[in-house]
Amino acid sequence: ELISWCVEDTRKGGFDHYMLKEIFEQPQSFYETIRAGIDDNVRQMIMGADEITLVACGTSYHTTLIFKYLAESLCNISVRAEMGSEFKYFVPPLRGLVIAVTQSGETADTIAALKMAKARNCSTLAITNVQGSTVTRVADSTLLMRAGPEIGVAATKSYTAQLAALMQIVNLRCERAFDDVLSHAHLAIGDVLLYDVRDAVALCSKADHAFFVGRGAFYPVAMEGALKMKEISYVHAEGYAAGELKHGPFALLTPETPVVAICTPGPTYSVMASNIKEMKARRAPVIALGVDGDKELAEIVDIFIPIPNTHLLVQVLTASVVLQLLAYHTACVLQRDVDKPRNLAKSVTVE
Ligand code: G6P
Repeated sequence: ELISWCVEDTRKGGFDHYMLKEIFEQPQSFYETIRAGIDDNVRQMIMGADEITLVACGTSYHTTLIFKYLAESLCNISVRAEMGSEFKYFVPPLRGLVIAVTQSGETADTIAALKMAKARNCSTLAITNVQGSTVTRVADSTLLMRAGPEIGVAATKSYTAQLAALMQIVNLRCERAFDDVLSHAHLAIGDVLLYDVRDAVALCSKADHAFFVGRGAFYPVAMEGALKMKEISYVHAEGYAAGELKHGPFALLTPETPVVAICTPGPTYSVMASNIKEMKARRAPVIALGVDGDKELAEIVDIFIPIPNTHLLVQVLTASVVLQLLAYHTACVLQRDVDKPRNLAKSVTVE
């Protein structure tokens, strides 16, 4: 029997899409980025900054929001996270260190913002996946993430590699309190890759609209989950701070509007649980991501997806990966062009 194959298929390494291949590469790319560490020059910049401003677009912007929550709550540094497209025209008062976060290193809005920061005498750092890219030529220094080439238009492994770089900055500023957490995080990422999310996919693929909600660092994780869902499955999804749904979006909740809620142990657990009950009272089906063994949560929701009960930093990663899988499988059920979603480009080089 003849086996037919094409070059494209071999590059996908047995996966149906680059996106799935890249989702599965995340334990390695996360680990490699941690292992590469931070060189002395960048370390000094980070340790010397009394205020940090980050600029980014799209998925990269979401990693900067996660960084803001983590750095402000865990190491008490003032952080501002700005979208590149806004920054250039509404430049905030700037001091200290400005970090551009961009997978490609070519996003025009992010680079324009970094140039403005440079013109205002800030020290500038690029976090990018591409050595020699434009951003590396603009910034004073570069922290390279080690995701390897990302082909799928939707960012996956570059997102977690950015988090690896940004979490190392948090770790540095917290006197390396998270060395052990970060050096083992890739194992937990590996643990969620084979999750069966088909019940949640069945709900999302039938929906026209969905909400993704969380609190604290899980709010931008929810924003990223919603972005992944809309960009590759074309299901309209909104990421929302869980406590804000009652200030408007409640009007949209119906039995056909799934809410994906991230609810993990910590100071916001009980308020999240009561938010979920409010959503259920409005008849919205709730898909909850919570920690393994949380029976109380499992009982109040329609679909419970357990993530490993680990450190907050690791939960941010595993929850994000589960939401990538949810978007990916929903897009597959809906027969979308996963690697090349309509109207989108991998790298946006116009402002
Ligand atoms: C495009 C891509 C997104 C990406 C964004 C920022 O819109 O489709 O996936 O997040 O650009 O890209 P960057 O290379 O700056 O991280």
